[in-house]
Amino acid sequence: MKRLMDGLLTSLSVMAIGTLQAGAVSASAAVEDGSVSFTQAVIPVLRTQCATCHMTGTEPGNLKLYPSAAYDSIVEAKSPGTGATLVVPGNPDSSYLLHKIKGTHLEHGGTGGRMPFGQRPLADDVISVIEKWIDQGALNN
Ligand code: HEC
Repeated sequence: MKRLMDGLLTSLSVMAIGTLQAGAVSASAAVEDGSVSFTQAVIPVLRTQCATCHMTGTEPGNLKLYPSAAYDSIVEAKSPGTGATLVVPGNPDSSYLLHKIKGTHLEHGGTGGRMPFGQRPLADDVISVIEKWIDQGALNN
């Protein structure tokens, strides 16, 4: 089943229509014992929904969000454009990345568009999982 879902996830992201479906997969993988796994729940979202535009760090936004770089790019790291901290462990409300995916970034001194840029917003349950991961300390788990 997991392999099937992974395959599904990959093909959906290739077709770039996977927002809701990818969200369902990662959200369900995330909350088994109440703690959110960065590897299982957050990386798949970044890989399929964000890294397409944030790969080498030279694209607009200047972020590397591919799996092996993502943690260091976001946790206690500054947003290159605004200087705001992208992910503040234990403090979702101060985490600029969360505001960028919720669309509340402009109210928090931010710039630009809601992420993923120009695409359907992430599903609410996916955003909640990322918020919970930050709230739980943004562990590299
Ligand atoms: C279709 C391309 C595209 C996708 C997909 C995309 N982004 Fe972006 N991103 C951009 C562009 C262009 C900018 C610069 C303009 C802006 O901030 O709106 C940007 C800027 C950002 C910034 C602000 C950087 C700064 O320092 O100002 C963050 C944070 C960000 N993206 C996170 C994400 C996350 C997280 C995802 C996945 C949920 C994502 N992006 C998906 C194109 C994209």
